[in-house]
Amino acid sequence: MCSRSRRAWLAYALLFVVLATLSISVLLHAARPPVSARAPAAPLSHLDAPALLRAYCAGCHRSRTRVELAADPTTASVHQDPALWRKVIRALRAEQMPPLDEPRSLHPLDRARLIAWVENTLQSGASARLAARHLAALEYRNAVRDLLGIELSPANALEGDGRQTGGVRQVALPADFPADDPLWALYVDEPSMPAAMILAYQTAAATVLNQVVESPDFERLGHAERCRVLENLARRAFRRPLQDEEIARLARHMADATPLQGFRAALYDVLTSPHFLYMVERRPDVTGAATAQFELASRLASFLWSSVPDEELLADAARGILPVRLNHHVARMLADRRAAILAPRFTNHWLHLQNLDGMDHVPAILRRAMRAETEHFVAFILQEDRDILEFLNADYTFLDETMARHYGIHDVRGDQVRRVPLLDDQRRGLLGHASLLTLTSYGFVTSPIRRGRWILENLLGERVPPPPVGMTNSNKAPVPAASIRRLQDPYSCGRCCHAPLLGLGTALEHYGSTGLWRAQAQTAQPEQEPAPIDAIGASPAGEPIAGSTGLGAYLLGQKDKFLRCLSSKLLTYGLDRKPRESDLDALDQIVEQLAHGPCRFTKLVQQVVASAPFQRGFVERWGQK
Ligand code: HEC
Repeated sequence: MCSRSRRAWLAYALLFVVLATLSISVLLHAARPPVSARAPAAPLSHLDAPALLRAYCAGCHRSRTRVELAADPTTASVHQDPALWRKVIRALRAEQMPPLDEPRSLHPLDRARLIAWVENTLQSGASARLAARHLAALEYRNAVRDLLGIELSPANALEGDGRQTGGVRQVALPADFPADDPLWALYVDEPSMPAAMILAYQTAAATVLNQVVESPDFERLGHAERCRVLENLARRAFRRPLQDEEIARLARHMADATPLQGFRAALYDVLTSPHFLYMVERRPDVTGAATAQFELASRLASFLWSSVPDEELLADAARGILPVRLNHHVARMLADRRAAILAPRFTNHWLHLQNLDGMDHVPAILRRAMRAETEHFVAFILQEDRDILEFLNADYTFLDETMARHYGIHDVRGDQVRRVPLLDDQRRGLLGHASLLTLTSYGFVTSPIRRGRWILENLLGERVPPPPVGMTNSNKAPVPAASIRRLQDPYSCGRCCHAPLLGLGTALEHYGSTGLWRAQAQTAQPEQEPAPIDAIGASPAGEPIAGSTGLGAYLLGQKDKFLRCLSSKLLTYGLDRKPRESDLDALDQIVEQLAHGPCRFTKLVQQVVASAPFQRGFVERWGQK
């Protein structure tokens, strides 16, 4: 190389270095916030994102604060709790973290790198997102009954799992998780599925196997036909078509031993498989519409039958026409005997009658009769597909002799609960039921506030905020008369917090603490004469409501609110979750659909099933809270 060209090369190199330095400092200026309170400029660290988190955040965020960032942040820990990591992004963007008074502040480029890493990691988690919930004991028993015709006693299946439902868990698996069987990870990792629970499932499966006997028909089948029987069973247990390896696995079991042994081994495999024990839903945009239809079939069967889908549901899902045949399926499923489970379970979800169990001041036989009245009543409206406004104004109820005597009705004899017409309008609809009137009293003292709150929350669907800290009242202790007077005092807090509750509840004052009708009541001073009852209440808007009849009329006037409330209760029952802000639009639409003509129960369920939240299922909309 000649000397001239070497000089030129040097000049170019120098120029390049100068330009590079310039552009870096320009970059730094652009990234730095215009006004910075931070004193010493932070050095650039060259650490990768997890190391940055360890160095700059973990010191405070392991145990010292409410926000726990894993000491060793990984892709998986970000996927586990997306809500937390969205907060991290917000805190980093707003430069709230690390705190201003923290001497170690983050270099702007480190900050930008950290934000980018969390964002990318969240994004990759989104595609692997699924929701899973394991079968509750009852669902397990029903599934075994519907698949194999074997009735397990509750003690046999998953004893000790007192939960009504399995409880939905959102599970995030990292995108690079081996695709062959991601569900095994649930099995291993799930904190709510401890070893004892797995053991319980294994024991339950063994109990089922003991009851499987070989029928002569099965004996006569050839190997291929036996495999076909098993495949069918597994397909229904997994609630979707089988994959090739799954079919091969079943065939291997069958090839190994005598037909009965092979069948038992394969069945054990199916019954302990996470594909059977978990209802799983993935995001439809990841799995495609076909899978979504099988998931919808499962959701529907779990909602209406607490069991697995039948052949008809799976067939329509396989043909891809389930979404347009939902009304047909809902009507068919509600008419099926498997829907008998819906009434008692939904009654508990809505009315919490199980709380009567703790009310020892009422004789057990009477409590049982009270509960039976309400359960039969709800079951009747559901099973006979009645107009659901009968919940508010039915002129009949369901009594055995104990309950009839309690109400002063004389011509009902024996333990048989039967439908009894109500001749006067003292006791119309649910609000005349002794079960609910007892549940909403404090021991032997009625509580208009509690009753009013019950009406608002369970019939009108209003959210009543909990009393301020320090103002709670234990269930047993009656509210002293003095404090009731204070509540009625226009200048105390009672006027604002309790007025709507008190107004509605007062209209029920003719019912005593166990639901007996009374014209007068003992006052707080035992030496005084009982005083006549004043049951003139008021609506939240301040219009007077005269007694239980007036309240019934008022509630019928609030029909839309009642329909909305009941729809919400059904939806949250069907999806096994709490109500959400995002349900509100869908509930409005349901009420609109129900506005015309009588509202039969089937129609209500059809609307709930068609609603966006039910269609969406367990998996939350991604990126929203
Ligand atoms: C000097 C201690 C300290 C350091 C270092 C620190 N934080 Fe914090 N951080 C806090 C405290 C204190 C709170 C308030 C938390 C609370 O309410 O308990 C907080 C709150 C947060 C929150 C919750 C904000 C919200 O919206 O609720 C997030 C997210 C957070 N920090 C992220 C980080 C990240 C990321 C880092 C590292 C870049 C970091 N923090 C470094 C002390 C610290």
